[in-house]
Amino acid sequence: SKIKFIEANGTEHVVEAREGQSVMQSAMDNLVPGIVAECGGFANCATCHVYVDQAWSARLPPPEESETAMIDCAFHVQPNSRLSCQLKVTPALAGLVVRLPISQT
Ligand code: FES
Repeated sequence: SKIKFIEANGTEHVVEAREGQSVMQSAMDNLVPGIVAECGGFANCATCHVYVDQAWSARLPPPEESETAMIDCAFHVQPNSRLSCQLKVTPALAGLVVRLPISQT
């Protein structure tokens, strides 16, 4: 599945994501700048924070409590903020577009 990451400065990165991995992992594997993922994917750091494009928000499973709690600790939070380590790549998400915050701190 292809996922498009758009940096805060508008630079786009289209990556090939493997099903079953997280959106965060697909960014890391493809060296997309702007995802730090300090905790390695355990919803424990909020440095994998992304904004999910509106068209896609409703197609994602809602955040679990641990994700919601950690988003409260993220910077530059918006209503469509999610933790990319908690978003699993599925066929339904082919073409997903996420934007990156100006920074993760
Ligand atoms: Fe730490 Fe997602 S990688 S919360």
